[in-house]
Amino acid sequence: MVAAFQEFHSPHYEFVAALVIIRTMAKPPLSMKPTGWFQVAWSDEIAVGDVHTMTYFGQEMVAWRAESGELTVMNAYCEHLGAHLGFGGSVVGEVLQCPFHGWQWSQQGRNVRIPYQDRPNRGRRIRTYPVVERNESVYIWHDVAGRAPYFDAPDIFAGFNDGSSADDYYPQQRLYRERLELHPQYVLENGVDFAHFKYVHKTPIVPVFTRHDFAAPVSFVDFTITFEGDDNQKIEDIDSRVEAVNGGLGIAVTKSWGMIDNRTISAITPVDESTSDVRFMVYIGRTPGTDPVRAETKAREFGHEVIRQFEQDVEIWRHQRYSDPPALANAEHEGFTAIRQWAKQFYPDGIGGSAADVYAASQKGGTA
Ligand code: FES
Ligand SMILES: [Fe+2]
Repeated sequence: MVAAFQEFHSPHYEFVAALVIIRTMAKPPLSMKPTGWFQVAWSDEIAVGDVHTMTYFGQEMVAWRAESGELTVMNAYCEHLGAHLGFGGSVVGEVLQCPFHGWQWSQQGRNVRIPYQDRPNRGRRIRTYPVVERNESVYIWHDVAGRAPYFDAPDIFAGFNDGSSADDYYPQQRLYRERLELHPQYVLENGVDFAHFKYVHKTPIVPVFTRHDFAAPVSFVDFTITFEGDDNQKIEDIDSRVEAVNGGLGIAVTKSWGMIDNRTISAITPVDESTSDVRFMVYIGRTPGTDPVRAETKAREFGHEVIRQFEQDVEIWRHQRYSDPPALANAEHEGFTAIRQWAKQFYPDGIGGSAADVYAASQKGGTA
C-alpha cells in the first residue's frame, strides 16, 4: 500500500500515506528510547545487599546496593558468559559477584576479579547508568548516544525554591501501574491540555494557563484551577494554582497552592517498544496545631483523591492513539505546537514534531 502511494511522488499523497501509517500503528510513532532521567524503582525497594531486576528501554537491567549504600544500575548480563546477574548474583562489599563463575564487577561496571586467575579482565565493562536517588525515587539517565546527563532531574521540594522539605509533608503516597500501552509524551501533553480538566477531572470551569516555558530541557507550566464551586465563577477570581516543572519527558513535579497543599511526581518510563511503567506520588502538606491523628487520616484521604484523579487520566492515556497532526481548537494550537516541538529534542531520531516527519523517517526505514 505504501509502495503504491510512492509512485505518485506527490506531497499530498505522501501526507495521506503518513496519516494511514500513523492511524494503523498500534505503538506510538514516537521513539520509546528517549533521552533523559527516568524512574526505575523506589529507593526503599532496594536495601543494602539487594539485587533488583528490571526491564527498561528494552534492556534487562539490575540495580544493586553496595555495603556503603551506593546504588548501581547496570545492564543485567555478565560479560563473561552471559549469566543474568539478577538471578543469584550477590553483593560482596562494594562489588557485584556473578553466580555462574564468581567474576566480580565494580560500580563502574568494570571487571575487578576473576577468582581463578591472578588478574581481572580490565578491558571488559558492563554498561552502567548514571543514577540519582531523589524524593524516594531511583532515577537513571538514559541516552542511546551515551552522553553524560545535560540537565538535572527535578526535585519536588528544592525545585520550587521555597525552602520546603519532606518534613513539611505527610508520608508519600504512591500509585504504580506496570506496562501500560502509553508513551511518556501523552502524560506531558496534559500540561497544555486545559480542556480535559473539565471533562476528565470534573472541574467546574476550564483552567487558564499562566506560563508555558519550553525554552530548555527542563520546562515550566503554571495554571489557575479550581475544583470547587459551580460553573458561574470567573477564572479571573480564582486564587488557586498549580506550578509544574517537567524534567524532560520522564519526570514532572507539581506544587499546588490555594487548595489543600499538595505536591505530586509523575514518572513514566518506557519498558519496551509499546509499553511504559507509570509511577505517581503525592505529598500532602502537614497542618500544624490540629489533631494529629485526624489530620493524618484526612491527608491520606486527600492523597487518595489526588491519585484517583491521576488514574482518570491514565484510563484515557492507556487507550489513546497518538493523533498527529491533531485536530486542535484555536486556543490549543500554541501550547500543543510548543510541547511537541520541545519533546522532539529528546528523541534520538529527532522524529516527533509532525506526521510528515514520521512518514519521511519511515521511508528511510527509521521509524521511531
Ligand atoms: S558468566 Fe558471569 S562469571 Fe561466568
Ligand atoms: Fe489530567
